[in-house]
Amino acid sequence: MKQAKKRDSWGSRLGIIMAVAGSAIGLGNFLRFPAKAAANGGGAFMIPYFISLFLLGIPLMWIEWTLGRYGGGFEHGTAPGIFHSLWQKNRFIKYFGVIGIFGPLVIFIYYTYIEAWTLAYSFFALTGKYSTLADQASMQGFLRGFQGLENNQYFHGIGLAYLFFIITFILNIWVIYYGIKGGIEKLCRWALPLLFVFGAILMIRVMTLGTPDPARPEWNISNGFGFLWNADFSSLKSAKVWLEAAGQIFFTLSVGIGVILTYASYLSKGDDVVLSGLTAAGTNELAEVILGGSIIIPAAFVFFGQEQMRTIATSGVFNLGFVTMPMVLNKLPLAALFGFFWFALLFLAGITSSVSLAQPAVAFLEDEFDINRKKAVKIFAIVSFLLCQPAIFFLKNGVVDELDFWGGTFFLVLFATIETVLFAWVFGMEKAWDEIHKGADMAVPKIYKFIIKYITPLFLFLILGMWLWQEWLPKIFMTNISSADRIYIIGTRLGLICVFLVLALLVKIAWRRKRVTAENLR
Ligand code: PFF
Repeated sequence: MKQAKKRDSWGSRLGIIMAVAGSAIGLGNFLRFPAKAAANGGGAFMIPYFISLFLLGIPLMWIEWTLGRYGGGFEHGTAPGIFHSLWQKNRFIKYFGVIGIFGPLVIFIYYTYIEAWTLAYSFFALTGKYSTLADQASMQGFLRGFQGLENNQYFHGIGLAYLFFIITFILNIWVIYYGIKGGIEKLCRWALPLLFVFGAILMIRVMTLGTPDPARPEWNISNGFGFLWNADFSSLKSAKVWLEAAGQIFFTLSVGIGVILTYASYLSKGDDVVLSGLTAAGTNELAEVILGGSIIIPAAFVFFGQEQMRTIATSGVFNLGFVTMPMVLNKLPLAALFGFFWFALLFLAGITSSVSLAQPAVAFLEDEFDINRKKAVKIFAIVSFLLCQPAIFFLKNGVVDELDFWGGTFFLVLFATIETVLFAWVFGMEKAWDEIHKGADMAVPKIYKFIIKYITPLFLFLILGMWLWQEWLPKIFMTNISSADRIYIIGTRLGLICVFLVLALLVKIAWRRKRVTAENLR
């Protein structure tokens, strides 16, 4: 008989809630959310955002927690095994599960690099490296120099960014090396509360900004908050705003990509998923709309006004966070300290997310190939380190944007659709409902039985359909990409296809090995 290998597990219920919340609360909450909200009209963005939260985000949170715990019972911590356990008769379904390892790996590749910038900027803030830069152009030049997009008076080459990348990468590997309880849970237990402290300090500071420019009384803090909170129903007609809002919900909650499946696979059969999942989602929303919504947006609003803020937000996801925010803080007393709080907040948010992105690949090697954790982490470290390189060196050619599109947008929606259909239709809603409620500390409102079965999949198909209709052709033919960069984008796509195929091949090998072992035992 096969030696029962003991899988890792969480130390406590609070531990997994904090780890899932740690995964969810990330750069998405503090950089992506404000940028999306500002670019899509503030209050106009929030209505589709909340509708997507209730119809997509929360149902998927429950689906993933439930499926993860279910799969863990069969010693599977990643989607190929979990999907196979759900639909044993289907030989192909496990290959759809490959997305649940591939997607997180793709996000990990660029996410860790951006996380490294936040660590670097924490040091720059403390050491006053950008403290004399007072206008948008010089702060932008500083960022571009740091990212290696240009050589200027601030930076020559990418050396410093690379150094911080190495430090960040090692920190990530170190955490996952110590496993679920000893690494990830431990990290999240102190990083998450600290992040909230930094966030609260910054929020209070921003709330007391008043009206910094008396010549422009309308640029005041209450109008800054009003920008996000005055509902504007006109957006409900815009397909693009819906797509962006739904995409943000997936990205921010870390659902629809396989990470939560893996985290929940370390639960025991009788552990609650209903209340825990809801608590983790609620904590993320608190961090996103309360903290994330009360720092950059109102701060940028009072110093630059609505129009300019919108222009900055549309000019790039990182501009509000790495250009506008340090500039605003530079105008205040104790700039170095507040700058540090801001970037340290981003770094803590980032690392508790990036370790979760690494875990599916590690769990896959452990569960399906019987490799021990330390060895699995070493393999992961070497492979992912190599895969990170194009994102670093070809940033200016649009490689990060391309990875973000496939990993952080397209596959999220696709995988979420597959998961929901499997759960509600293949596994079956009656069984699914029972499974969700095993060990549950609260009942899911009845209406969700209907929502999960009909509304969530319909909504997902609608999003996919709309995307295909509006963007498929220009995306595939790279209409919006300069001819010089096309070769890099094609290279990225070919690379992604190779990674996917290798993972699919590994799934095939793992299943064949299991079959042979099972036959030998007979
Ligand atoms: N939720 C993270 C954020 O908001 O930054 C990003 C993320 C982590 C997305 C893990 C997906 C994931 F699986």
